[in-house]
Amino acid sequence: MRERIEKVEREITEIVIANKQDAEAFRILYLGSKGVLKSFYQEFRAVGADEKKELGQRLNELKLKIEEKLSKITWEETENNVATKIDFTRPGRSTQIGSLHPLTLIRNELIHVFSKIGFSISEGPEIEDDWHNFSALNFAPDHPARDMQDTFFIDSMMEGFSLRTHTSSVQVRVMENEKPPIRTISPGRVYRNEAISARAHCFFHQIEGLYIDKNVSFADLKQTLDYFAKSIFGGDAKIRLRPSYFPFTEPSAEVDVSCTLCHGGGCGVCKHTGWLEILGCGMVDPNVLDSCGIDSTIYSGFAFGMGIERIAQLKYRVTDLRLYSENDIRFLNQFHF
Ligand code: DAH
Repeated sequence: MRERIEKVEREITEIVIANKQDAEAFRILYLGSKGVLKSFYQEFRAVGADEKKELGQRLNELKLKIEEKLSKITWEETENNVATKIDFTRPGRSTQIGSLHPLTLIRNELIHVFSKIGFSISEGPEIEDDWHNFSALNFAPDHPARDMQDTFFIDSMMEGFSLRTHTSSVQVRVMENEKPPIRTISPGRVYRNEAISARAHCFFHQIEGLYIDKNVSFADLKQTLDYFAKSIFGGDAKIRLRPSYFPFTEPSAEVDVSCTLCHGGGCGVCKHTGWLEILGCGMVDPNVLDSCGIDSTIYSGFAFGMGIERIAQLKYRVTDLRLYSENDIRFLNQFHF
């Protein structure tokens, strides 16, 4: 009997109880009215007096072990039993997917629009020398843009360098390195020494456009801009050109697009004029062509430059420039398209 009690002891430590049914089967097998323990007790009655004490003790220990295993398992393991805890009808937890930044969206859209009419993409450095940012673009030595007030100059070690103030510097690099016909746009970040407010920032983004070939005329420029405005702002968008001045273009113009909100009727966004200023443009000044190694007696071209934030502002009605660089998730989350 002693050996059989020991065998049962070993047996119960090895039994795995995984769920409620297992626990019940275990209970019936060992503690049930026809169970193992019951038959041991029946046998025990016939045990001689000399063994009674020891075997009685052993039987009690076995009973305790069985009960202990059962109580632990019943309450712990069946609680943890995944099948009884999970509600498979509950909706799943969705993964958060990021979105492109609004400025990236607009930049990509502009690239798409211009690539459809044959414009390539070119890029240049953000730290630029005086030649590419100013001199080659026909800025006079005393032009106010060269002033510390407007431009971030890089001191000491890199004298003559500044953070580019516009992407027009990339025009120069392209013209120096490529032969006409040239048809390219240059998106990128630019820097100005401005106090940060809702309407001004010390860095923002531009896209520059450049087209050089034989017989390029102002009409080509106008047509290209009309195509651009209709592609970005919708088929009923109109453009208006006003004479202006830039050192690197002659003639120069500033371009307005019909107000995207009131469609010309007049509203707060367009200050009741029906028009919104969006870019600067002009025919590339012959001085600039010659400075960049392109013969201005053979070639002509047009250029334009626009702020990406400005286009985003008109498309998404974001009126505070600071929002673009604050990375507020509540702002960025609105651009899941
Ligand atoms: N570079 C000018 C600016 O930052 C924008 C500009 C005006 C670019 C006329 C051009 C242009 O290419 O022809 O304000």
